[in-house]
Formats: sequence, C-alpha cells, structure tokens
Amino acid sequence: METEPILALDFPDWNQTKAFLAPFYGKPLYVKVGMELYFQNGPAIIEALKAENHRIFLDLKLHDIPNTVKQAMKGLAKLGVDMVNVHAAGGRRMMEAALEGLEAGTPAGTSRPLLLAVTQLTSTSELEMQSEQLVAVSLEESVVHYAKLAKAAGCNGVVCSVHEAVKISEACGAEFLKVTPGIRLQTDQSHDQSRVADPKTARQLGASMIVVGRSITKALDPLQAYQQVKKLWNDYSKPLVRNSGL
Ligand code: C5P
Repeated sequence: METEPILALDFPDWNQTKAFLAPFYGKPLYVKVGMELYFQNGPAIIEALKAENHRIFLDLKLHDIPNTVKQAMKGLAKLGVDMVNVHAAGGRRMMEAALEGLEAGTPAGTSRPLLLAVTQLTSTSELEMQSEQLVAVSLEESVVHYAKLAKAAGCNGVVCSVHEAVKISEACGAEFLKVTPGIRLQTDQSHDQSRVADPKTARQLGASMIVVGRSITKALDPLQAYQQVKKLWNDYSKPLVRNSGL
C-alpha cells in the first residue's frame, strides 16, 4: 500500500499555507503543523486543514512538568489531530502524563492521537550533544535509550533520524513507529539538518513515516517535488533491512 510522506507546513500564516496548498487541491495529504504556524494561527488552522480532509501531525514537541503536559494534551486531543509529540528528555512520567491527557481529551467514538517522543533533534550533531548537553554516550546510544524510555511509557513511536531507525527497530520492535525528518532529495542542500537521508534510503532503513519540509516547500515546483518524494518513498524494490524478524 502506498503511504503519503508527511508534508511539513512550515509557513508563518494561513494565507501563505493556503497559497502553497493550492496546487494540491482535492488531494488529501498528511501534513505537519509545527510551532511556526500553530503559534500564529492556533486551533483555527487545524479546523481549516481538517475541512480539506488532511490528516494532521501537530508537532509542538511539548516539554514541561507532567501535569502541565497532561492538561495541554487534553486540549490538543479535542482538536481531532492524528499525531502529536513530546520531548523524551521530559522523562517517563511526563510521557505517561501526556498519554493520560490524550486519552482524557479524545472525543468519544474517535481514535486517540498517536503519541511520539522526540529523541535527539535531527539538527543536533554528536559533538553538540556531548558538549552542550554533557551527554557522555554516543548520539546513537542516547537516541536508543530515549526510544526505549518512550516505549516503556506507552508512546507509539519516536521522531528520529533515518540513521537510527535500524537500531530502534532492534531495541523496540518493528511496529514501534520511527517518524523521520531530515529528508532530502539528492540534489538538495541539507540546510540546518545534520543527519539527512533521501526518501528511498529512509524506506530501506525501516522508517515508518517520513517528514519532508524544505525539499518540497522550497522547490520550484512543489507538486512535482512532492510526487518525486512520494515515488521514492514508496519504492520497495531493494530493502536493505527487513522489518519482519527484527
Ligand atoms: O525542512 P525540513 O525537511 O528540514 O523540515 C523538517 C521538519 O521536521 C521541520 O518542521 C522540523 O521542525 C521537524 N523536525 C525535525 N527534527 C526533529 C523533529 C521535527 O527536523 N527531531
């Protein structure tokens, strides 16, 4: 079955978002609304996107004391989004509280939004992690540790780089979601992302979903770039890693 790449709508307002989405009209997408757009337009943006039948990953990366995250998640679940996230660095109790909030806020008869935990941002290099966070292990060890913690807390998966997907599948099982940003077409620049991969490599290394922003939003022809990403992502021809049996 073909799956949609998640399109990161990193725009400052609804007018620019609408203009960007115009060529995609009538095509239900899986979109990601992040801080940039949500903090300007709030819940109205979610309603507008849902009215167009888009699925929504609300990427606000919550990180606060457990009770605050619980109450915030209760409110976000009421919006009817499909997926939300927290920073795993907030700890197990915070992630459990996030789930409690989501369960409490999900309207009757609908599904609870999936909960992901951000491990290490894909913009963070190992050197930065070690020198700024004073984490003494490798980046991969830190990411796998956070993934296990997120799984123990009941999260559905993690946000991670493609390059960590194999290790996370080994540690947490193939069904545990690996949602991977830092996706670039081979002709693109990496911008501020440190750990990038192309869509086909993401598929081959066991990513469950990919998040793509600037490779599509800054392309000369975004619709064509989207189709190219989708085609590469759905190309199963040569898996490097088999998900079954991991
Ligand atoms: O433009 P680009 O494809 O780099 O966009 C990636 C998107 O994924 C951005 O919206 C960014 O906030 C988000 N993201 C990320 N790394 C994470 C979590 C989310 O790049 N660990």
